[in-house]
Amino acid sequence: MTPRIGSFEEYQATYNQSVQDPEGFWSSIADTFTWKKKWDKVLEWDFRQLDVKWFVGGKLNITENCLDRHLATRPDQAAIIWEPNDPNEDTITLTYRQLHAEVCKMANALKALGAKKGDRICFYMPMVPELAIAVLACARIGAIHSVVFAGFSASALADRINDATCSMVICSDGNFRGSKKIAVKDVVDEAVANTPSIKKVLVLRRTGQAVNWDDHRDVWMHDALDGMSTECEAEEMDSEDTLFILYTSGSTGKPKGVVHSTAGYMVYTTYSFKNVFQYEDGDVYWCTADIGWITGHSYIIYGPLSAGATTVMFEGVPTFPDAGRFWEIVDKLKVNQFYTAPTAIRALMAKGDEFVEKHDLSSIKVLGSVGEPINEEAWHWYHDMVGKGKSPIVDTWWQTETGGIMISPIANSTPLKPCFATKPMPGIQPVLVDSDGNEITENEVEGLLCVKFPWPSMIRTTYGNHERAINTYFKMFDNKYFTGDAAKRDSDGNYRIIGRVDDVINVSGHRMGTAEVEDAIDQHPEVVEAAVVGYPHDIKGQGIYAYITMADNVQKDEDTIVKEIRDVVSKHIGPIAKPDKIQVVKGLPKTRSGKIMRRILRKVAEGTAGNLGDTSTLLDPSVVDDIKAGAK
Ligand code: PRX
Repeated sequence: MTPRIGSFEEYQATYNQSVQDPEGFWSSIADTFTWKKKWDKVLEWDFRQLDVKWFVGGKLNITENCLDRHLATRPDQAAIIWEPNDPNEDTITLTYRQLHAEVCKMANALKALGAKKGDRICFYMPMVPELAIAVLACARIGAIHSVVFAGFSASALADRINDATCSMVICSDGNFRGSKKIAVKDVVDEAVANTPSIKKVLVLRRTGQAVNWDDHRDVWMHDALDGMSTECEAEEMDSEDTLFILYTSGSTGKPKGVVHSTAGYMVYTTYSFKNVFQYEDGDVYWCTADIGWITGHSYIIYGPLSAGATTVMFEGVPTFPDAGRFWEIVDKLKVNQFYTAPTAIRALMAKGDEFVEKHDLSSIKVLGSVGEPINEEAWHWYHDMVGKGKSPIVDTWWQTETGGIMISPIANSTPLKPCFATKPMPGIQPVLVDSDGNEITENEVEGLLCVKFPWPSMIRTTYGNHERAINTYFKMFDNKYFTGDAAKRDSDGNYRIIGRVDDVINVSGHRMGTAEVEDAIDQHPEVVEAAVVGYPHDIKGQGIYAYITMADNVQKDEDTIVKEIRDVVSKHIGPIAKPDKIQVVKGLPKTRSGKIMRRILRKVAEGTAGNLGDTSTLLDPSVVDDIKAGAK
């Protein structure tokens, strides 16, 4: 069994051991898993080339760890409890035995449709059990999954399918989301019209709505599963074989496919899950993330299932049928660990305490936060109103690239400090550096957050472009992984994450590149130029503020332009990227060399344009007055 830390002293001792002898530390954890063949060497690494291998030479299948090994010890324990969008629809519970059978059936169905080891399979699905089942089925047969959040547009989906040359898309007819019914298959149809690699579209019937059908390409999931065996031998995978690709935004260019490998990812997500949340046998754990993001991959599916936990999956949204839905589910399922994002906490806090007070939340033992900085007010409301002052909050800092939680309290062990992610997990060696890359060793400082030693679940490459991964993460500071975040360290060595220092913004916990949004806006035929920045937003954490210049002859009123811009962004990325504020300006503030001074745009967007600093390098300083005068 994966070990669990029980006190702060034990954390400190474990941490020290993990730094002094990382290989010994991680091999003792890895020993608690099921291997087809044990590794020959624990670690080989070279950050400069981004060549990192963990458990070298090991052979395994992650689904044997998530499923088969639990059949002996907990076959009838709930593995997944699924809660539907509509509270009147039935909850579905899949025991480990049932989940194993369903995954094997799905794996056989995928094979019958021609899928094989190494193929890339794209998912565009609502939060239904079949999503988890089919993800695990891919892993069972060694196919690589690439789950795309089902809020992205057809064109964003097509880009991701093409980048990974996926051979199949798994989707549903539609998606129930709150009071809305979303036409999922229509989006997929539009995407696959431009994806030559797609041979099959496997469709789950969920909403029953009418869909277009291509007999050569489209297959109903229930037909594909019909008659399939509930046994499927797990493919033998190398420790370093790719488990999945997950697209995420950076400061430049199109989203990149972050590649995670098998063994290190499994070991790290399991270990961190068990320790951060202090999961005990019999507990019911619920992470509200969508499986379209890394949090869903690591802490709904792989970490919890490998640890033999009961993991809850929720199809709906926190405010449907009302703002008490999360708490109703916690009460109904007697959830012990609850993990969500600050944006949801803030949104629910704004709806009033009565939605919480109606429900019995006494089952909660640990509360988690992820995805963005949690502000002090939200932290206290979460702690006092939801946790009734008795449950620790684990503020977990990590990233798509890190695969698992990097800096976080260990529940009930690490002393808490509101808004601080506190201490690094065992095996994680964070450092703060100045802008020249010098390591800052003192405390009570602020710096750029890097990691100086490999950890098992770290990114291995960006799909199809290894140089890009090296340039993005390992070129900035020699021999260090650069996170893109700035952080503070207090006198006790606790970390507080300040936020991104690059052109990445975090909107409702969704990571977005400002360049990506600008590219989408530029698709509008009458837009000449766009510049996008983030600004503080009470609920979303950050909002999107777009400055645009229009062609001279455009006669439209501003409302029409704003609507069209929002539509164009929705079409090219998805509704989550729609700018909150759009300001039409005469010109953007540029230096003589043509560089946009984003610092000025950020200050105007933040409402702190009183102090703009030095603007003497601007080509035309008068544009600043125009921008300030028209600020939204
Ligand atoms: O800026 C940090 C912020 O989210 C970024 C990573 O986003 P993504 O890859 O989408 O993964 C989110 C879920 C793991 C980070 O660079 N972030 C994440 N967690 C926290 C956070 N910022 C502050 N506090 C956190 N706990």
